[in-house]
Amino acid sequence: MNKSLLINKKIKPFNKKIDVDGDKSLSIRFTLLASLAGGKSKAYGLLKSEDVMSTINCLKKLGVKIKFRQNYCEVIGMGLNGYDYKKNLTLDAGNSGTAARLISTTCLNSPNFIRITGDSSLKKRDMKRIIKPLIKFGVQIKKNKGTLPLSLKGSGNLRPISYNEKLGSAQVKSTILIASLISSSKTTKLKCKPSRNHTELLLRYLKVPIKIKKTKKFDLIEIKGKKEFDGFNYKIPGDISSASFPIVLTLLSKNSKLVIKNVNVNPSRTGIISILNMMGGFIKLKNKRIYKGEQKADIFIKSTNNLRGINLPKSFNNSSAIDEFNLIFICAAFAKGVSTFQGLLELQSKESKRLDWGFKILKMIGIKTKKIGNHGIKIWGNPNLKLDKEYVIKNYLKDHRIAMSNIILGLARGGRWKIYNPESINTSFPSFKKMIKNLGGKLN
Ligand code: S3P
Repeated sequence: MNKSLLINKKIKPFNKKIDVDGDKSLSIRFTLLASLAGGKSKAYGLLKSEDVMSTINCLKKLGVKIKFRQNYCEVIGMGLNGYDYKKNLTLDAGNSGTAARLISTTCLNSPNFIRITGDSSLKKRDMKRIIKPLIKFGVQIKKNKGTLPLSLKGSGNLRPISYNEKLGSAQVKSTILIASLISSSKTTKLKCKPSRNHTELLLRYLKVPIKIKKTKKFDLIEIKGKKEFDGFNYKIPGDISSASFPIVLTLLSKNSKLVIKNVNVNPSRTGIISILNMMGGFIKLKNKRIYKGEQKADIFIKSTNNLRGINLPKSFNNSSAIDEFNLIFICAAFAKGVSTFQGLLELQSKESKRLDWGFKILKMIGIKTKKIGNHGIKIWGNPNLKLDKEYVIKNYLKDHRIAMSNIILGLARGGRWKIYNPESINTSFPSFKKMIKNLGGKLN
């Protein structure tokens, strides 16, 4: 597709209050867990993006009834062993790594092979990370290359597992937790490098027996499966990963202020706020409250001319900002001094190779960078950098976050930007363009 979006004007100073679309991680987890509940569940504010719709379409193929009513989404749960396992079922997770990995657990009780597939970007992504634990659970998997498509089915011999999750991947951890919930009546033991904990919090809210012990480097989790639960209601707050785009737009623009209302600020997700504040940004959380174990707040941001480079400590939990590093690199490009970020190999396993894209974009705009091994980047910031050339973004595997971060860069700092495949934005943030227009930004 040759469609493109043009940005050739910096945004004018703004002072606004906005909302962002619902949290993607919570929306996907809500639909999957609601499908396993006994009875009706409702979600208000569910994100209606392509990733969530892919999850919903997979669940519908398993016989789950899901309907969008006027202001909520209704899911009729089928219980822990209630899916309708037809023969030759293919589930298409589209672009969504979270959907593909978490949906793999739906095969656990299936007597027939279920084929899971996805788009060309998702087919490049690593699935060995879920194949390994699923095999331990007793799942049968047809010969594969460690990528999609994967054909999986259950077995008469499902068993609880112990597992050491070393990637810091919430998708892997959640796959194991949901597989434990479906498969075993005994305790599953998990040692996990910390990552977003929405699944644990939801399971705890649903009264599934789950114990979590936090040590300095790991979370030790024990879960007892086969615990049926009732349908439930959930109000999904704004997505901090989506909020990060207007946060960075405000920080890097002139004389602007912004309030983003009702955003999920679970500490396992707010790494971008910590990092940008360590760099001298002005981002404050106000009106903090707890909802069903999750934290929500309104986020206040003010522009700043005084960002400083940062040497991000190795002890920092990178997983808490995993989807936001490309925006953080952009901020480092305009900060005073040198920045270093390390331990980011996981960025190469996302919708595109995001560490490579970090280098590519900064080089394109004239910023000096250096690789640190295969996992890090050193950035020589230049607060006086003027963007006055033409910059073209294409062949980026339609990675929604790459598209949006460059739109933000162009709106905040200028230049003439041509972004191909802007429809990629609908993967996670369908109201992105509307939000930009509301802030006064011009997109052609
Ligand atoms: C997600 C976890 C993260 C993140 C992704 C959503 C989730 O991936 O990058 O966008 O909802 O669990 P990993 O857990 O693989 O790091």
